[in-house]
Amino acid sequence: MPAPSVAARFRCVACAAEYPLAEARTACAACGELLDVAPDLASFGFSGAAWRDLFDRRRAAPGSPETRAYERSGVWRYREHVLPGLDTEYLVSKPEGATRLYAGGALGEELGLSRLFVKHEGENPTLSFKDRGMAAGVTWAKACGFPLVGCASTGDTSAALAAYAAEVPGMRAVVLLPHAKITDEQLSQALAYGATTLGLDTDFDGCMKIIAALADEGRVYLLNSKNAVRLEGQKTIGIEAIHDLGWAVPDWFVVPVGNAGNVSAIGKGLREWLSLGILDKKPRIAGIQADAADPFYLSYQGGFKERITRVAGDTAASAIRIGAPVSHPKAQREIGFFDGVVERVTEAELLDAFALANRHGLAICPNSAVALAGAAKLRREGVIKKTDLVVVVATAHALKFSGTMAAYHRGAGRLANPPRRVPATLDAVRAALG
Ligand code: F0G
Repeated sequence: MPAPSVAARFRCVACAAEYPLAEARTACAACGELLDVAPDLASFGFSGAAWRDLFDRRRAAPGSPETRAYERSGVWRYREHVLPGLDTEYLVSKPEGATRLYAGGALGEELGLSRLFVKHEGENPTLSFKDRGMAAGVTWAKACGFPLVGCASTGDTSAALAAYAAEVPGMRAVVLLPHAKITDEQLSQALAYGATTLGLDTDFDGCMKIIAALADEGRVYLLNSKNAVRLEGQKTIGIEAIHDLGWAVPDWFVVPVGNAGNVSAIGKGLREWLSLGILDKKPRIAGIQADAADPFYLSYQGGFKERITRVAGDTAASAIRIGAPVSHPKAQREIGFFDGVVERVTEAELLDAFALANRHGLAICPNSAVALAGAAKLRREGVIKKTDLVVVVATAHALKFSGTMAAYHRGAGRLANPPRRVPATLDAVRAALG
Protein backbone atom coordinates (compact mmCIF):
# COMPACT_ATOMS: atom_id res chain seq x y z
CA MET A 1 0.00 0.00 0.00
CA PRO A 2 1.59 3.36 -0.99
CA ALA A 3 2.03 5.87 1.86
CA PRO A 4 -0.78 8.45 1.91
CA SER A 5 0.17 12.00 1.08
CA VAL A 6 0.49 14.36 4.05
CA ALA A 7 2.45 17.60 4.54
CA ALA A 8 4.06 16.58 7.82
CA ARG A 9 7.10 14.61 9.01
CA PHE A 10 8.33 13.24 12.31
CA ARG A 11 11.09 15.35 13.84
CA CYS A 12 13.17 14.35 16.86
CA VAL A 13 12.71 16.69 19.82
CA ALA A 14 16.43 16.43 20.67
CA CYS A 15 18.49 16.08 17.47
CA ALA A 16 15.94 17.22 14.83
CA ALA A 17 16.43 14.09 12.68
CA GLU A 18 13.40 13.66 10.42
CA TYR A 19 11.40 10.59 9.36
CA PRO A 20 8.36 10.00 7.16
CA LEU A 21 5.10 10.03 9.09
CA ALA A 22 4.05 6.70 7.57
CA GLU A 23 6.81 4.90 9.50
CA ALA A 24 5.34 3.35 12.66
CA ARG A 25 7.89 5.17 14.74
CA THR A 26 7.72 6.53 18.29
CA ALA A 27 11.40 7.27 18.94
CA CYS A 28 14.35 8.71 17.05
CA ALA A 29 16.53 6.05 15.38
CA ALA A 30 19.60 8.22 15.94
CA CYS A 31 19.27 9.25 19.60
CA GLY A 32 16.23 7.41 20.98
CA GLU A 33 14.36 10.57 22.01
CA LEU A 34 10.67 11.33 21.40
CA LEU A 35 9.41 12.61 18.08
CA ASP A 36 7.19 15.55 17.22
CA VAL A 37 4.99 15.81 14.20
CA ALA A 38 6.31 18.77 12.22
CA PRO A 39 3.49 19.97 9.96
CA ASP A 40 4.31 22.17 7.00
CA LEU A 41 1.92 25.00 7.83
CA ALA A 42 3.88 27.87 6.30
CA SER A 43 3.33 26.39 2.82
CA PHE A 44 -0.37 27.35 3.05
CA GLY A 45 0.75 30.99 2.90
CA PHE A 46 -2.10 32.14 5.18
CA SER A 47 -1.93 35.11 7.53
CA GLY A 48 -3.21 34.70 11.10
CA ALA A 49 -6.39 36.53 10.07
CA ALA A 50 -6.91 34.22 7.08
CA TRP A 51 -6.61 31.12 9.30
CA ARG A 52 -9.07 32.59 11.81
CA ASP A 53 -11.48 33.39 9.00
CA LEU A 54 -11.27 29.83 7.60
CA PHE A 55 -12.00 28.31 11.02
CA ASP A 56 -14.81 30.80 11.72
CA ARG A 57 -16.47 29.94 8.42
CA ARG A 58 -16.23 26.21 9.08
CA ARG A 59 -17.65 26.63 12.56
CA ALA A 60 -20.59 28.68 11.32
CA ALA A 61 -21.42 26.46 8.33
CA PRO A 62 -24.99 25.15 8.53
CA GLY A 63 -25.33 21.39 8.67
CA SER A 64 -27.44 19.21 6.40
CA PRO A 65 -28.22 15.48 6.21
CA GLU A 66 -25.36 15.22 3.73
CA THR A 67 -22.81 16.80 6.08
CA ARG A 68 -20.05 14.27 6.79
CA ALA A 69 -19.09 13.50 10.42
CA TYR A 70 -15.65 15.09 10.02
CA GLU A 71 -17.26 18.37 9.00
CA ARG A 72 -18.94 18.51 12.44
CA SER A 73 -15.75 17.61 14.28
CA GLY A 74 -13.84 19.96 16.56
CA VAL A 75 -10.67 18.13 15.55
CA TRP A 76 -11.09 18.11 11.79
CA ARG A 77 -12.35 21.70 11.78
CA TYR A 78 -8.63 22.44 12.16
CA ARG A 79 -7.61 19.62 9.84
CA GLU A 80 -4.78 21.47 8.07
CA HIS A 81 -3.11 21.68 11.49
CA VAL A 82 -3.70 18.03 12.41
CA LEU A 83 -2.83 16.00 9.31
CA PRO A 84 -2.25 18.67 6.64
CA GLY A 85 -3.31 17.79 3.14
CA LEU A 86 -4.56 14.29 3.97
CA ASP A 87 -7.38 13.22 1.64
CA THR A 88 -10.65 13.70 3.58
CA GLU A 89 -11.71 10.21 2.45
CA TYR A 90 -9.48 8.84 5.21
CA LEU A 91 -10.81 10.94 8.09
CA VAL A 92 -12.29 8.89 10.93
CA SER A 93 -14.74 10.86 13.03
CA LYS A 94 -17.71 10.22 15.29
CA PRO A 95 -17.57 13.39 15.39
CA GLU A 96 -15.47 14.48 18.41
CA GLY A 97 -14.40 17.74 19.99
CA ALA A 98 -16.61 20.82 19.71
CA THR A 99 -17.04 20.38 23.47
CA ARG A 100 -18.67 23.01 25.64
CA LEU A 101 -16.71 25.73 27.35
CA TYR A 102 -18.52 26.39 30.63
CA ALA A 103 -18.31 29.71 32.43
CA GLY A 104 -17.25 29.04 36.03
CA GLY A 105 -19.96 31.29 37.52
CA ALA A 106 -20.64 30.54 41.18
CA LEU A 107 -18.05 27.74 41.18
CA GLY A 108 -15.39 30.21 40.09
CA GLU A 109 -16.48 32.74 42.70
CA GLU A 110 -16.20 30.09 45.39
CA LEU A 111 -12.64 29.34 44.28
CA GLY A 112 -11.70 33.01 44.02
CA LEU A 113 -11.52 32.88 40.23
CA SER A 114 -13.89 35.43 38.77
CA ARG A 115 -13.05 34.60 35.15
CA LEU A 116 -12.92 30.80 35.27
CA PHE A 117 -13.89 28.65 32.29
CA VAL A 118 -13.97 24.87 32.11
CA LYS A 119 -13.41 23.15 28.76
CA HIS A 120 -15.39 19.95 29.28
CA GLU A 121 -13.64 17.22 27.33
CA GLY A 122 -15.82 14.67 29.11
CA GLU A 123 -18.43 15.60 26.52
CA ASN A 124 -16.60 13.67 23.80
CA PRO A 125 -18.13 10.48 22.35
CA THR A 126 -16.41 8.09 24.79
CA LEU A 127 -16.52 10.72 27.55
CA SER A 128 -12.87 11.78 27.52
CA PHE A 129 -10.41 13.97 25.62
CA LYS A 130 -8.73 10.86 24.24
CA ASP A 131 -11.26 10.84 21.41
CA ARG A 132 -9.51 13.83 19.86
CA GLY A 133 -6.23 11.95 19.85
CA MET A 134 -7.78 8.79 18.51
CA ALA A 135 -9.56 10.63 15.70
CA ALA A 136 -6.07 11.57 14.47
CA GLY A 137 -4.29 8.34 15.42
CA VAL A 138 -6.87 5.90 14.06
CA THR A 139 -7.27 8.00 10.91
CA TRP A 140 -3.55 7.70 10.33
CA ALA A 141 -3.54 3.95 11.11
CA LYS A 142 -6.35 3.50 8.59
CA ALA A 143 -4.62 5.61 5.94
CA CYS A 144 -1.39 3.63 6.37
CA GLY A 145 -3.18 0.27 6.50
CA PHE A 146 -2.05 -0.80 9.99
CA PRO A 147 -4.41 -3.69 10.89
CA LEU A 148 -3.77 -4.00 14.65
CA VAL A 149 -3.70 -0.98 16.94
CA GLY A 150 -2.89 -1.10 20.64
CA CYS A 151 -2.27 0.85 23.82
CA ALA A 152 -1.62 0.61 27.53
CA SER A 153 -4.16 2.53 29.53
CA THR A 154 -5.54 3.72 32.83
CA GLY A 155 -8.96 3.34 31.19
CA ASP A 156 -9.71 6.28 28.94
CA THR A 157 -7.20 5.79 26.13
CA SER A 158 -8.38 2.17 25.89
CA ALA A 159 -12.03 3.22 25.65
CA ALA A 160 -11.27 5.72 22.90
CA LEU A 161 -8.96 3.40 20.98
CA ALA A 162 -11.55 0.60 21.04
CA ALA A 163 -14.35 2.92 19.94
CA TYR A 164 -12.40 4.49 17.08
CA ALA A 165 -10.95 1.18 15.85
CA ALA A 166 -14.55 -0.07 15.72
CA GLU A 167 -15.21 2.61 13.08
CA VAL A 168 -12.71 1.08 10.65
CA PRO A 169 -13.67 -2.15 8.90
CA GLY A 170 -11.03 -4.83 9.45
CA MET A 171 -9.12 -2.96 12.17
CA ARG A 172 -8.48 -4.81 15.46
CA ALA A 173 -7.59 -3.26 18.81
CA VAL A 174 -5.71 -4.67 21.80
CA VAL A 175 -5.57 -2.86 25.12
CA LEU A 176 -3.35 -3.61 28.14
CA LEU A 177 -4.85 -2.50 31.45
CA PRO A 178 -3.47 -2.59 35.00
CA HIS A 179 -5.73 -5.26 36.54
CA ALA A 180 -8.26 -3.87 39.05
CA LYS A 181 -6.85 -0.34 38.85
CA ILE A 182 -9.38 1.20 36.46
CA THR A 183 -13.10 1.78 36.93
CA ASP A 184 -15.73 -0.72 35.77
CA GLU A 185 -17.25 1.95 33.55
CA GLN A 186 -13.94 2.41 31.73
CA LEU A 187 -13.39 -1.35 31.48
CA SER A 188 -16.89 -1.87 30.10
CA GLN A 189 -16.16 0.54 27.27
CA ALA A 190 -13.19 -1.41 25.90
CA LEU A 191 -15.20 -4.65 26.18
CA ALA A 192 -18.28 -3.18 24.56
CA TYR A 193 -16.37 -1.76 21.58
CA GLY A 194 -14.82 -5.16 20.92
CA ALA A 195 -11.16 -4.64 21.83
CA THR A 196 -9.06 -7.59 22.95
CA THR A 197 -8.84 -6.55 26.61
CA LEU A 198 -5.98 -7.86 28.73
CA GLY A 199 -5.73 -7.11 32.45
CA LEU A 200 -2.13 -7.37 33.68
CA ASP A 201 -1.01 -7.73 37.29
CA THR A 202 1.07 -4.58 37.18
CA ASP A 203 0.57 -0.82 37.05
CA PHE A 204 0.17 1.48 34.03
CA ASP A 205 3.93 1.89 33.69
CA GLY A 206 4.33 -1.92 33.53
CA CYS A 207 1.64 -2.19 30.83
CA MET A 208 3.32 0.63 28.90
CA LYS A 209 6.65 -1.25 28.76
CA ILE A 210 5.00 -4.38 27.35
CA ILE A 211 2.92 -2.65 24.69
CA ALA A 212 5.96 -0.58 23.65
CA ALA A 213 7.95 -3.82 23.21
CA LEU A 214 5.16 -5.29 21.06
CA ALA A 215 5.19 -2.12 18.97
CA ASP A 216 9.00 -2.33 18.59
CA GLU A 217 8.56 -5.89 17.27
CA GLY A 218 6.17 -4.49 14.66
CA ARG A 219 3.26 -6.52 16.07
CA VAL A 220 0.98 -3.56 16.86
CA TYR A 221 0.68 0.07 15.83
CA LEU A 222 1.08 1.93 19.13
CA LEU A 223 -1.57 4.52 19.89
CA ASN A 224 -0.40 5.77 23.24
CA SER A 225 0.63 9.42 23.30
CA LYS A 226 4.19 8.25 22.69
CA ASN A 227 2.92 8.21 19.12
CA ALA A 228 3.17 11.87 18.20
CA VAL A 229 0.34 11.63 15.65
CA ARG A 230 -2.14 11.23 18.51
CA LEU A 231 -1.02 14.46 20.11
CA GLU A 232 -1.83 16.32 16.89
CA GLY A 233 -5.50 15.55 17.54
CA GLN A 234 -5.27 16.55 21.19
CA LYS A 235 -3.65 19.88 20.51
CA THR A 236 -7.05 21.07 19.25
CA ILE A 237 -8.26 21.26 22.89
CA GLY A 238 -6.33 24.45 23.55
CA ILE A 239 -6.90 26.04 20.19
CA GLU A 240 -10.60 25.22 20.21
CA ALA A 241 -10.95 26.79 23.68
CA ILE A 242 -9.45 30.02 22.31
CA HIS A 243 -11.79 29.82 19.33
CA ASP A 244 -14.69 29.36 21.82
CA LEU A 245 -13.55 32.57 23.57
CA GLY A 246 -13.85 34.53 20.32
CA TRP A 247 -10.05 34.44 19.87
CA ALA A 248 -9.35 35.87 23.34
CA VAL A 249 -6.21 34.21 24.73
CA PRO A 250 -6.60 33.15 28.37
CA ASP A 251 -3.98 34.02 30.97
CA TRP A 252 -3.82 30.37 32.03
CA PHE A 253 -4.50 26.86 30.80
CA VAL A 254 -4.64 24.47 33.75
CA VAL A 255 -4.23 20.80 32.84
CA PRO A 256 -4.05 17.54 34.84
CA VAL A 257 -0.83 15.62 34.17
CA GLY A 258 -0.43 11.85 34.08
CA ASN A 259 1.62 10.53 31.18
CA ALA A 260 2.14 14.22 30.25
CA GLY A 261 0.93 13.85 26.67
CA ASN A 262 -1.98 16.24 26.92
CA VAL A 263 -0.11 19.16 28.42
CA SER A 264 2.51 18.63 25.70
CA ALA A 265 -0.12 18.56 22.97
CA ILE A 266 -1.89 21.69 24.17
CA GLY A 267 1.41 23.56 24.41
CA LYS A 268 2.50 22.48 20.94
CA GLY A 269 -0.76 23.67 19.38
CA LEU A 270 -0.52 27.02 21.11
CA ARG A 271 3.10 27.47 20.00
CA GLU A 272 2.14 26.77 16.41
CA TRP A 273 -0.76 29.22 16.54
CA LEU A 274 1.54 31.87 17.99
CA SER A 275 4.09 31.40 15.21
CA LEU A 276 1.37 31.59 12.55
CA GLY A 277 0.08 34.87 13.99
CA ILE A 278 -3.31 33.34 14.87
CA LEU A 279 -2.66 34.30 18.52
CA ASP A 280 -1.23 37.61 19.61
CA LYS A 281 -0.39 36.67 23.19
CA LYS A 282 1.19 33.80 25.10
CA PRO A 283 -0.94 32.17 27.78
CA ARG A 284 0.72 30.45 30.75
CA ILE A 285 0.33 26.75 31.42
CA ALA A 286 -0.07 25.01 34.78
CA GLY A 287 0.32 21.24 34.99
CA ILE A 288 -1.24 19.63 38.07
CA GLN A 289 -0.63 16.21 39.60
CA ALA A 290 -2.00 14.23 42.55
CA ASP A 291 0.32 13.82 45.56
CA ALA A 292 0.27 10.04 45.08
CA ALA A 293 1.56 10.29 41.50
CA ASP A 294 3.73 13.40 41.37
CA PRO A 295 6.97 12.61 39.46
CA PHE A 296 6.61 15.56 37.09
CA TYR A 297 5.98 17.90 40.03
CA LEU A 298 9.08 16.56 41.81
CA SER A 299 11.17 17.05 38.65
CA TYR A 300 9.87 20.62 38.33
CA GLN A 301 10.66 21.31 41.99
CA GLY A 302 14.25 20.29 41.27
CA GLY A 303 14.45 22.75 38.38
CA PHE A 304 14.14 19.84 35.91
CA LYS A 305 17.78 18.97 36.57
CA GLU A 306 16.71 15.37 36.99
CA ARG A 307 13.90 13.35 35.40
CA ILE A 308 12.33 11.83 38.48
CA THR A 309 10.18 8.70 38.34
CA ARG A 310 8.45 6.90 41.19
CA VAL A 311 6.02 4.09 41.87
CA ALA A 312 2.64 5.81 41.75
CA GLY A 313 0.40 5.22 44.75
CA ASP A 314 -3.33 4.79 45.09
CA THR A 315 -5.39 7.86 44.23
CA ALA A 316 -9.01 8.64 43.41
CA ALA A 317 -7.56 10.25 40.28
CA SER A 318 -6.83 6.75 38.99
CA ALA A 319 -6.45 7.83 35.35
CA ILE A 320 -3.32 9.79 36.25
CA ARG A 321 -1.80 7.14 38.49
CA ILE A 322 1.45 7.13 36.53
CA GLY A 323 4.99 7.12 37.88
CA ALA A 324 7.08 7.50 34.73
CA PRO A 325 5.41 9.97 32.36
CA VAL A 326 6.44 9.04 28.82
CA SER A 327 6.08 12.58 27.45
CA HIS A 328 8.15 14.21 30.22
CA PRO A 329 10.65 15.92 27.82
CA LYS A 330 7.86 17.47 25.75
CA ALA A 331 5.93 18.60 28.80
CA GLN A 332 9.09 20.14 30.25
CA ARG A 333 9.60 22.03 26.99
CA GLU A 334 6.08 23.48 27.10
CA ILE A 335 6.29 24.42 30.79
CA GLY A 336 9.51 26.24 29.94
CA PHE A 337 8.18 28.01 26.84
CA PHE A 338 4.92 29.13 28.45
CA ASP A 339 6.48 30.31 31.73
CA GLY A 340 4.52 27.49 33.28
CA VAL A 341 4.24 26.04 36.74
CA VAL A 342 3.64 22.55 38.10
CA GLU A 343 1.63 22.00 41.27
CA ARG A 344 0.26 19.00 43.15
CA VAL A 345 -2.85 18.48 45.26
CA THR A 346 -3.85 16.16 48.11
CA GLU A 347 -6.58 13.52 47.94
CA ALA A 348 -8.83 15.67 50.13
CA GLU A 349 -8.31 18.68 47.84
CA LEU A 350 -9.03 16.76 44.64
CA LEU A 351 -12.06 14.95 46.11
CA ASP A 352 -13.56 18.17 47.44
CA ALA A 353 -13.00 19.87 44.07
CA PHE A 354 -14.62 16.84 42.37
CA ALA A 355 -17.65 17.12 44.67
CA LEU A 356 -17.78 20.92 44.41
CA ALA A 357 -17.73 21.06 40.60
CA ASN A 358 -20.42 18.39 40.40
CA ARG A 359 -22.44 20.19 43.08
CA HIS A 360 -22.48 23.13 40.69
CA GLY A 361 -23.79 20.82 37.97
CA LEU A 362 -20.47 20.37 36.19
CA ALA A 363 -20.05 16.63 35.70
CA ILE A 364 -16.28 16.35 35.68
CA CYS A 365 -14.12 13.43 36.85
CA PRO A 366 -11.60 13.22 39.73
CA ASN A 367 -8.67 13.66 37.30
CA SER A 368 -10.22 16.86 35.98
CA ALA A 369 -10.76 17.89 39.60
CA VAL A 370 -7.00 17.67 40.10
CA ALA A 371 -6.68 20.57 37.66
CA LEU A 372 -9.52 22.48 39.27
CA ALA A 373 -8.07 22.00 42.76
CA GLY A 374 -4.68 23.02 41.37
CA ALA A 375 -6.13 26.22 39.91
CA ALA A 376 -7.69 27.02 43.29
CA LYS A 377 -4.38 26.34 45.04
CA LEU A 378 -2.41 28.53 42.63
CA ARG A 379 -5.02 31.23 43.24
CA ARG A 380 -4.58 30.95 47.01
CA GLU A 381 -0.81 31.16 46.56
CA GLY A 382 -1.25 34.33 44.48
CA VAL A 383 0.30 32.78 41.36
CA ILE A 384 -3.04 33.08 39.55
CA LYS A 385 -4.75 36.44 40.07
CA LYS A 386 -8.46 36.78 40.84
CA THR A 387 -9.26 38.41 37.50
CA ASP A 388 -7.02 36.20 35.36
CA LEU A 389 -8.85 34.49 32.51
CA VAL A 390 -8.39 30.83 33.40
CA VAL A 391 -9.30 27.78 31.31
CA VAL A 392 -9.29 24.53 33.28
CA VAL A 393 -9.19 21.50 31.01
CA ALA A 394 -11.64 18.88 32.35
CA THR A 395 -10.49 15.64 30.79
CA ALA A 396 -13.30 13.14 31.37
CA HIS A 397 -16.89 12.81 32.52
CA ALA A 398 -17.94 12.22 36.13
CA LEU A 399 -19.95 9.14 35.19
CA LYS A 400 -16.80 7.19 34.31
CA PHE A 401 -16.05 7.44 38.05
CA SER A 402 -19.50 7.03 39.60
CA GLY A 403 -18.19 4.60 42.24
CA THR A 404 -15.77 7.27 43.46
CA MET A 405 -18.61 9.78 43.61
CA ALA A 406 -20.93 7.44 45.49
CA ALA A 407 -18.15 6.57 47.96
CA TYR A 408 -17.45 10.27 48.53
CA HIS A 409 -21.05 11.00 49.39
CA ARG A 410 -21.30 8.00 51.73
CA GLY A 411 -18.11 9.11 53.48
CA ALA A 412 -16.92 12.00 55.62
CA GLY A 413 -16.00 14.48 52.86
CA ARG A 414 -16.74 18.18 53.38
CA LEU A 415 -19.56 18.15 50.82
CA ALA A 416 -20.87 14.64 51.50
CA ASN A 417 -24.57 14.27 50.67
CA PRO A 418 -25.26 10.72 51.84
CA PRO A 419 -28.31 8.84 50.61
CA ARG A 420 -30.68 7.83 53.39
CA ARG A 421 -32.88 4.75 53.49
CA VAL A 422 -36.28 5.52 54.99
CA PRO A 423 -39.46 3.49 55.54
CA ALA A 424 -41.98 3.72 52.69
CA THR A 425 -44.48 5.85 54.58
CA LEU A 426 -45.64 9.41 54.15
CA ASP A 427 -44.72 10.20 57.76
CA ALA A 428 -41.19 8.90 57.39
CA VAL A 429 -40.61 10.93 54.21
CA ARG A 430 -42.11 14.04 55.88
CA ALA A 431 -39.80 13.52 58.84
CA ALA A 432 -36.82 13.09 56.51
CA LEU A 433 -37.57 16.48 54.93
CA GLY A 434 -37.13 18.01 58.38
N1 F0G B 1 -7.33 12.91 32.68
C1 F0G B 1 -7.85 11.75 32.30
C2 F0G B 1 -9.31 11.53 32.49
C3 F0G B 1 -7.03 10.76 31.71
O1 F0G B 1 -7.56 9.61 31.31
C4 F0G B 1 -5.65 11.02 31.56
C5 F0G B 1 -4.76 10.03 30.99
C6 F0G B 1 -5.16 12.28 31.98
C7 F0G B 1 -6.04 13.18 32.54
C8 F0G B 1 -3.74 12.66 31.85
O2 F0G B 1 -3.38 12.90 30.53
O3 F0G B 1 -1.59 11.22 30.37
O4 F0G B 1 -1.81 13.01 28.67
O5 F0G B 1 -1.03 13.54 30.98
N2 F0G B 1 -5.11 8.85 30.76
C9 F0G B 1 -4.28 7.86 30.05
C10 F0G B 1 -5.12 6.65 29.74
C11 F0G B 1 -2.99 7.59 30.66
O6 F0G B 1 -4.56 5.56 29.55
O7 F0G B 1 -6.35 6.75 29.64
P1 F0G B 1 -1.85 12.66 30.09
